[in-house]
Amino acid sequence: MTRLKANYTILAIETSLDDTCAAVTVDDRVVSNVVASQVKFHEEYGGTVPHIAKRKHREWIDRTIDEALRLRSGRHQKITDVDAVAVTYGPGLAPCLEVGIAKAKELAREWQKPLIAVNHMEGHLLSSLAKNRQGKNKIQDLPEIRDQMPVLGFLISGGHTELVLMRGLGKYELLGETLDDAAGEAYDKVARMLNLGYPGGPILSELAKEGDPSRYPLPEPMKHRQDLNFSFSGIKTAALYKLRDLYQIRDLNNRQFVADFAASFQQAVLKMLRRKFKRALEMYQPKMVLLGGGVVSNVAIRTEARKVANKFGVPVVIPYSPKLFTDNAAMIGVCAWYQAQRGEFVEDLGQLDRQPNLSFRTKS
Ligand code: KG4
Ligand code: ZN
Repeated sequence: MTRLKANYTILAIETSLDDTCAAVTVDDRVVSNVVASQVKFHEEYGGTVPHIAKRKHREWIDRTIDEALRLRSGRHQKITDVDAVAVTYGPGLAPCLEVGIAKAKELAREWQKPLIAVNHMEGHLLSSLAKNRQGKNKIQDLPEIRDQMPVLGFLISGGHTELVLMRGLGKYELLGETLDDAAGEAYDKVARMLNLGYPGGPILSELAKEGDPSRYPLPEPMKHRQDLNFSFSGIKTAALYKLRDLYQIRDLNNRQFVADFAASFQQAVLKMLRRKFKRALEMYQPKMVLLGGGVVSNVAIRTEARKVANKFGVPVVIPYSPKLFTDNAAMIGVCAWYQAQRGEFVEDLGQLDRQPNLSFRTKS
């Protein structure tokens, strides 16, 4: 462990997908967290278009960083009191990662400060450890995380669905992941079939609240597989066929029909998540569960996770603010602070490269 000075201040940058993000963290506290969303530029394509995302990151990155630093310092303080720069170096879209990394290197050189390279998924994993300015989060009343090992991380986002075992900070093991689509991706694709807009996950899950989940049951893929991997593309395809089969009653302008269909789809997703989550709890008996990723915004999923974990007497923790569920740079800054304590700095800036396929398997 490296002893860091108190109030260790990090400027963090995150550009792995379609949000241009910058944040300032002080130790594990979030002081500013700026997210410039590009959603409206990708809407008509129904997914992130890499070259458009790259262009927007380039256009917006300076302004986003400025705003993050200004929020922190007010008019009088200078940016030079940053102790380190942190940046996401993977996983993500290569052209997008590149923009953040180039900017982070530039600032580290200019300010003569160390650079910390962060795994985006470790950021999501540790997002529940982030504290607000007053030093509060949803984990504070529980015993120290270091005494809670092993901890199970359940990461559910638009790009990933993963179960991760944490044996210590910085010691991770990937237990299971999606073999095809991520959960959020399946939500977005089914939402598109239902003409709900982009990204449709949140809209679909809102509508599902009004629907009957048993109305249009979908088969459960990989029901008998014993491993901890997920598959959502089977559910998505089953939804597509089911929608086709329902041509006589299918009416996408009929709110009740769409709500019932959305609820039925969500039910199938919940079943898949529940089964693997329960198995992981049985197999590894963690003392605590950390949820992370954009799909954790979904209350039905959180409720389900709590219900399952309760049976094992295991607390389920989420980040203190919904802004930390979806992609953001604050989680990167907090993760970087833990890395800095482990002395994990980039030794040679010239050697740091994007790693689009970075995973807990390749490196923690
Ligand atoms: O973590 P995130 O911001 O981006 C990735 O790293 O992928 O997650 C975004 C994903 C999108 O697919 C979005 O549709 C999904 O999270 N999402 C939801 C909900 N809110 C966001 N999916 C289901 N229900 C929600 N309430
Ligand atoms: Zn993410």
